[in-house]
Amino acid sequence: VSSQGNSSDGFLSCLTASIPRQLVFTPSSPSFTPLLKSSIRNPKFFTPSTVRPLYIITPTNASHVQAAVLCGRRSGLRIRVRSGGHDYEGLSYRSVRAESFAVLDLSSLRAVRVDAQAATAWVDSGAQLGELYYAIGKASGVLGFPGGLCPTVGVGGHFSGGGFGMLLRKYGMAIDNVIDAVLVDAKGRLLNKNTMGSDVFWALRGGGGESFGVVVSWQVKLLPIPPKVTVFNVPVTASQGAADLVTRWQQVAPALPEDLIIRVVVQQKTANFQSLFLGTCDALLPVMSSRFPELRFNRSDCREMTWIQSVPYIYLGSASTVEDLLNRTTAESVFSSGYKATSDYVRQAIPRDAWASIFAKLAQPNAGLMILDPYGGQIAAVPESATPYPHRAGVLYNIQYMNFWSMASGDGAVQTRWIREFYAFMAPFVSSNPREAYFNYRDLDLGENVVVGNVSSYQAGMVWGQKYFKGNYQRLAMAKGQIDPDDYFRNEQSIPPFANSR
Ligand code: FDA
Repeated sequence: VSSQGNSSDGFLSCLTASIPRQLVFTPSSPSFTPLLKSSIRNPKFFTPSTVRPLYIITPTNASHVQAAVLCGRRSGLRIRVRSGGHDYEGLSYRSVRAESFAVLDLSSLRAVRVDAQAATAWVDSGAQLGELYYAIGKASGVLGFPGGLCPTVGVGGHFSGGGFGMLLRKYGMAIDNVIDAVLVDAKGRLLNKNTMGSDVFWALRGGGGESFGVVVSWQVKLLPIPPKVTVFNVPVTASQGAADLVTRWQQVAPALPEDLIIRVVVQQKTANFQSLFLGTCDALLPVMSSRFPELRFNRSDCREMTWIQSVPYIYLGSASTVEDLLNRTTAESVFSSGYKATSDYVRQAIPRDAWASIFAKLAQPNAGLMILDPYGGQIAAVPESATPYPHRAGVLYNIQYMNFWSMASGDGAVQTRWIREFYAFMAPFVSSNPREAYFNYRDLDLGENVVVGNVSSYQAGMVWGQKYFKGNYQRLAMAKGQIDPDDYFRNEQSIPPFANSR
């Protein structure tokens, strides 16, 4: 495959032989730009200088995906796969360097089939998390699934990179509960768990999107949820002792019963303690007063509801409804702010005086925010090598740093610099050797692939790969060597094939 798609006309004629014409879009089509924009979540990757696709294809079944891969290989054009478009670096729809490519947009491949009796579901990659949760909620009041909070996140990218949310302490990650998957590989074959081989099936579940082929659908295990859960959100300001409380939270939250998660969003001078408890307020009150009395939690803080109601309540706010989980459109307000994000893992509690400095930095002009997700419980019970996601036992919590800006008022240079300086400041307090990071909070500052002889370099990939995957990086590269030794599926942070397994 050449990096410049000089035979892109060949791609188009090959494609139209096997895919209905109306599913293939070229830049001259009036629908091309609205379709491209439709799931872009970070508008800093929608500017005149952004390297955009030559074509967008919207498959409606797996055979269209197979045809696109075969035509891509035959005519020397690479493919980028987009499910929900939430990639932090926009790699599902743009390239960092000048390169010709087509986007396979899976938004029309989004069926969810729940078998409540068997407590399983098949979900297509183009479904968004909200659609998955909604279908589960419709089928049963006592089943749930442990994925991320934002309803518009795509299943395809989310499961490929791990996936965690408010059920992480009870049931671990999304990938811990994937039991089968359907993959189109670089030869255009349609494979399942049995035919793709155990290394590839292992790699798909957390080893990152784009690397191993196109995952068309996933079978997941659904998990028991009580008919009533309790949600709370308690804000504590700096003058009310937020730094003391967050310092204490670091010890308390990872050791709580698995039915209870308390995460913290720290923004400006306020720490928001946000929680989901799998049970009633009556059952929660004694746990809070014995385990975290410093929060001064009381009955009036409790909001009881069903699990499916808690999903929009926590992410979209108290005025939202369960139907809002089905909304796929990108609000213009979302599209108007760019962002930069990155992540860390904390294995030793950060001292009180450092928290005082952190709060001071978060109160600066143009500062970002921190989201702290506590570990312990089931996420920590899974061995490091059981899935590609290695950040398990011993992690107290995950940190996500984010900084936003209005696209109308600037290019985000100031806010991006703030994140980079803050990340440097945090180095002494977080994991090291490697400094661990979460693949789904992708950050190209951690490193990019170097292509040597038309294949991404294994050695160069170690720089970012060990941060995301620790010791699992090598096994991922070996799985890549088995399924795609020519490195057809690649982007700036895809797994390189391990040379010895070629
Ligand atoms: P997108 O379509 O951009 O794909 C991401 C990557 O996966 C790309 O490299 C793409 O090529 C590849 N890919 C996509 N579909 C594929 C397929 N079918 N087969 C193979 N490769 C595929 N995470 C989390 O764990 N918990 C959370 O609560 C949240 N919350 C959250 C909120 C918001 C607003 C954003 C923007 C992001 C999150 N995330 C998150 C991060 C999220 O999990 C991550 O960005 C996912 O990769 C997004 O998946 P999409 O399918 O939406 O992205």
